[in-house]
Amino acid sequence: MKGAQVQTLNEVIIQQQSAFPYAKGELSRLLTHLGVAAKIVHKKVNKAGLVDILGEAGAINIQGEDQKKLDIFADKTFISSFKSSGIVAGVATEEQDEIVVFTDNLSVNGNYIICMDPLDGSSNIDVNVSIGTIFSIYRRISSPGTPVVTEDFLQEGNKQVAAGYVIYGSSTMLVYTTGLGTTGFTLDPSIGEFCLSNQFMETPKEGSIYSINEGNYIKFPQGVKDYLKYCQVEDKSTNRPYSSRYIGSLVADFHRNLIKGGIFIYPRTSSNPRGKLRLLYECNPIAFLAEQAGGLATNGYGKRILDVKPKELHQRISFFTGSANMVKKAESFMSKYDEKQ
Ligand code: AHG
Ligand code: MN
Ligand code: MN
Repeated sequence: MKGAQVQTLNEVIIQQQSAFPYAKGELSRLLTHLGVAAKIVHKKVNKAGLVDILGEAGAINIQGEDQKKLDIFADKTFISSFKSSGIVAGVATEEQDEIVVFTDNLSVNGNYIICMDPLDGSSNIDVNVSIGTIFSIYRRISSPGTPVVTEDFLQEGNKQVAAGYVIYGSSTMLVYTTGLGTTGFTLDPSIGEFCLSNQFMETPKEGSIYSINEGNYIKFPQGVKDYLKYCQVEDKSTNRPYSSRYIGSLVADFHRNLIKGGIFIYPRTSSNPRGKLRLLYECNPIAFLAEQAGGLATNGYGKRILDVKPKELHQRISFFTGSANMVKKAESFMSKYDEKQ
């Protein structure tokens, strides 16, 4: 019997390269660097229970949340891999207040900038639950040869040239898009390669999972409360009641819903009136992937996430994403109230 043909991340990237708008091989190289950094973080995540890497590092990031050691490790690993690629001129990361500007001779001429959440779901590190890394790649606006500026990072999500995430779960997977569909790779630790596992990922138009932190119920806008009631009411013709599933790692919650069909909601609440998730590091890349898989991503108030013009690096936003019909349904409940975002 003929063995199955395995296609590695690098092979697929090279095949797709000719379709990139700026096909100088740069973006391919960048994605390759990213894959290597992901493998390094994967290794560390897998050893997290064994070595002294668990626990809080004693610093608080810009969002006021405790940084865990792995957050810092992942942040450093990805930043140094982007720097050594020589193609990236700077990075904005959830973990650092200001943009990280690369000024060495090679990087300053780089055409790309990155926004990333190096470790997503950090509250789950200590308890052996899936976590992730989210990234987003743009072409810079400022002239190559000069240091990048904050404006380079405040581009609308629809300008992303690539985006993706790594999920460190029961397997480690890398899911990315360059605007040619959403593709998934699974790390085969025995050969140390990401192997093509999910080509042309398509999320079901309709699903039966809703993912939201229901502990915040009393703080939700009325439209969200009404939609949740709709999810819970029995109606066999629409597969209701839906199942409630919430891990608390956006990457893991989104990944499950992407494959099975479902909706993820992190609305604004009375204590987080702008929402909690970050537009640049979390929502834009996830929105790009969702749309490329046939899903939707909005702020719940009729605005496509990818069309929001960011005003600041660490901007937060209300976030609704997943199966297209479910997002539309949730929005129809939201629109009954005179709330605008
Ligand atoms: P991070 O670990 O990068 O700070 O992100 C956590 C995010 C996201 O992954 C998740 O969906 C959400 O915060 C969970 O928030 P709650 O604990 O408020 O539900
Ligand atoms: Mn996060
Ligand atoms: Mn994070």
